[in-house]
Amino acid sequence: METPLTGTVALVTGGTRGIGQACATQLGQLGASVLITGTSAESVDTGVRALKDSGLPRASGYVVDVRDQASIDALFDGAIGEFGRIDILVNNAGVGGGGATHELPYEAWERLIDINLNGVFRVTRSWLQRSGARERGWGRIVNIASTGGKQGVQLAVAYTASKHGVVGLSKSLAIELAPHGITVNAVCPGFVDTELSAGARARYAKAWGVTPEDVLERQNKRFPLGRHVRPDEVARLVGFLAVPDAEAITGQAMNVCGGLGQY
Ligand SMILES: NC(=O)c1ccc[n+]([C@@H]2O[C@H](COP(=O)([O-])OP(=O)(O)OC[C@H]3O[C@@H](n4cnc5c(N)ncnc54)[C@H](OP(=O)(O)O)[C@@H]3O)[C@@H](O)[C@H]2O)c1
Repeated sequence: METPLTGTVALVTGGTRGIGQACATQLGQLGASVLITGTSAESVDTGVRALKDSGLPRASGYVVDVRDQASIDALFDGAIGEFGRIDILVNNAGVGGGGATHELPYEAWERLIDINLNGVFRVTRSWLQRSGARERGWGRIVNIASTGGKQGVQLAVAYTASKHGVVGLSKSLAIELAPHGITVNAVCPGFVDTELSAGARARYAKAWGVTPEDVLERQNKRFPLGRHVRPDEVARLVGFLAVPDAEAITGQAMNVCGGLGQY
């Protein structure tokens, strides 16, 4: 495989599994050293081991809760000490959740916004302060939003609001950072086969009084592609946005959703 990212360092938040793990693998295969984060030592160990087992020896991991600035500071202390720089930031860490709005506790709304939106701001600001990318005049930020960052998702007001926020943050930051050689884009997956989408399926099954298998069948019928997207299919777009050839692509929000969303 071509390795256009040789010599670069990539940080993928929430890289222990699912879309984040696929992004770390893809960026590693393109030549980057990869750093992932997860919320526990166990999940980080598992994620780093999977990367090394797939042939990426320059993989490392840190325990980070994106709600906690102190853990983000510790990540940058460790990562800069270990690698000296971080060129590529993939803000992927995120959670699902939802339900009927009149029954949604404020705490559930607040938690989801704090992880999915405020977390992106916290990690991005720290990356801008500590990575050296602005000073070197080259960098890449890819924010994993969702098709729910552009259109409504049923029984998911907090999730939808958080992802619209991520798309807006990405567009604004792209304008600010273009003069510094840093591109900022949002990638918007739709229904990817991961633990997060399995959790959403279980919630819909409960709300609609059907089985998770029924929900899966209904969902797949809605997609022109006829199936869920695979994490590696999202990761390939993230990898392309990270390479030097993608210099002219910034401020965009691009779907990888099998035709579910069309703008
Ligand atoms: N799956 C889909 O259909 C879909 C569609 C559109 C967008 N997305 C977005 O894609 C991203 C990844 O989703 P996924 O489906 O791959 O989910 P996933 O398999 O559930 O993985 C979530 C990742 O985020 C980490 N994480 C969770 N809470 C965190 C916190 N408070 N601080 C830091 N890290 C945290 C998890 O760490 P641990 O392993 O330690 O728990 C894990 O690495 C999310 O932003 C999600 O909203 C997913």
